[in-house]
Amino acid sequence: MGAPNISRRDFLMKVGQAGGFSAAFLTMQALGLMPQAEAMRPIEAAPETGKGVTVAILGGGIAGLVAAYEMKALGYKCMVLEARHRPGGRNWSVRGGDTVEFLDGAQQKCTWERGHYQNFGPARLPSVHKNMLGYCRKLGVALEVEVNTSRSSYLENDEANGGKPAVQREVINDTRGHVSELLGKCIRQGALDQDLSGEDRDRMLSFLRQYGPLDSTGAYVGSSRAGYVTLPGAGDQEGRIAKPVDMHTLLDENFWDGILFEEVFDMQATMFQPVGGMDRIPYAFAHALGKTVHYEAVVTEIRRTAKGVRIGYTQGGRTKALEADYCFCALPMTMLKKISNDFSAPYKQVIEDCTYAPAYKIAWESRRFWEQDYNIYGGLESVNTGCSPVWFPSGGMFTERGVLVSGYAMDDWGEFASMTMEQKFAESRKTIERLHPGHGRELEKPMYVSWRQIAFNEGSWVATYGPDEPTRGWGDDAHRVNPGYETLIQPDGPIYFIGDHVSQIVAWQEGAAVSALRAVQMLSDRVRARQSS
Ligand code: PHE
Repeated sequence: MGAPNISRRDFLMKVGQAGGFSAAFLTMQALGLMPQAEAMRPIEAAPETGKGVTVAILGGGIAGLVAAYEMKALGYKCMVLEARHRPGGRNWSVRGGDTVEFLDGAQQKCTWERGHYQNFGPARLPSVHKNMLGYCRKLGVALEVEVNTSRSSYLENDEANGGKPAVQREVINDTRGHVSELLGKCIRQGALDQDLSGEDRDRMLSFLRQYGPLDSTGAYVGSSRAGYVTLPGAGDQEGRIAKPVDMHTLLDENFWDGILFEEVFDMQATMFQPVGGMDRIPYAFAHALGKTVHYEAVVTEIRRTAKGVRIGYTQGGRTKALEADYCFCALPMTMLKKISNDFSAPYKQVIEDCTYAPAYKIAWESRRFWEQDYNIYGGLESVNTGCSPVWFPSGGMFTERGVLVSGYAMDDWGEFASMTMEQKFAESRKTIERLHPGHGRELEKPMYVSWRQIAFNEGSWVATYGPDEPTRGWGDDAHRVNPGYETLIQPDGPIYFIGDHVSQIVAWQEGAAVSALRAVQMLSDRVRARQSS
């Protein structure tokens, strides 16, 4: 005897009848059929929890700002010390009129037209990052869609297809067609008889006919999904579909890797960006926080005292100190390496051992040839060597000119590492030339930002927490099981570490936000326990 054969739908109907709507709703949530509250999860603490408690927040990036915003609402007395003249930390938009200064002394003046910008830090907000989207909603930050992939954009690989770029709709759909044809063949030849029942064999074959799509003989002969050589038009203009790209070409890593990008959990449509620049988010927080945020306040010392902490910092050439009961430390570990502190040994160790990734972006102003000549609106493209990917703007579509990225990778990769800035620009232009011959010369006014060359960043995001970890260039979804990470997620006495590096969502603003929310919850539980004892 198994479970009674009752469909999910019947089951929900029954629950609904017996318990009313809310019972059905809760049951659906429990069954995973409905999202757990779409909104952000509030901190569980009484409104006045923080009354009489002082907190020094080090760093006015997303983690520090979220912490300050939440703690103020709970009555804590907070002060954010931010080293720069602006909020946001690595969240940073560059516009015409701005100057980008590198630690090695290089200076670039941005002369882009009014309204043009580039998000040299974070540049996309996945729809699954509900805390960041929640704050945008709450703070009134206008969002627009960030187009993360476009079927009309290209992939290029010098080693495949004679170096000719291929359109993504072709690569994606022809790959699917070839795979379906092969699987269909295996099934028809009986190779999967051990694994499939007779019924499922038939079901799979009908599915593959649609999914491929395959013709009546089970062959993949191309599909309009992959595009046309002649578009369907008026009168007798019939659409003629393209011949499939051969499988050997498609099996090249740069092609299939490119087509899987949009399946990455946090890269999936729909993605968002603030209208006018990612820095609209930190500015909105800063506006809400008012005098809580202190700028050009450079932390020089983090000390523990009998009562809590003493933070030494400089501001306007003067040496200052801030005493507080607790400290929320949101500084990147690249900075902590250089700040004298009273952290206990395991914390000192992870700070010393950790390494940061050196991401860079190169952006240019140009006529929107991608829109006007190629029907490409947003999305990314890649080539297999040199500067990659290209990232087209999602804002200002259909205007005459815009800013695109050509090169967003690691500064220490291959030959790029030792190039001069001019050579890097030449590499970046070459990428566009390979994908869109003739258009490399339309690129103007390049700007190059290397995170590790920017004061108070000195890196893009944590790469390793300790010496035994493999280096990860991109913030991937590997679990942070390193003892260094395990250390950082616990407070060191009165000091709480926050930032994307104290989360499992490294290299995303959401990671910074959840780390701050978690720490505010931990502190509030502690404060309450102390009050009731
Ligand atoms: N969040 C960053 C981005 O969207 C870095 C990142 C890239 C993180 C790829 C994970 C995967 O570009």
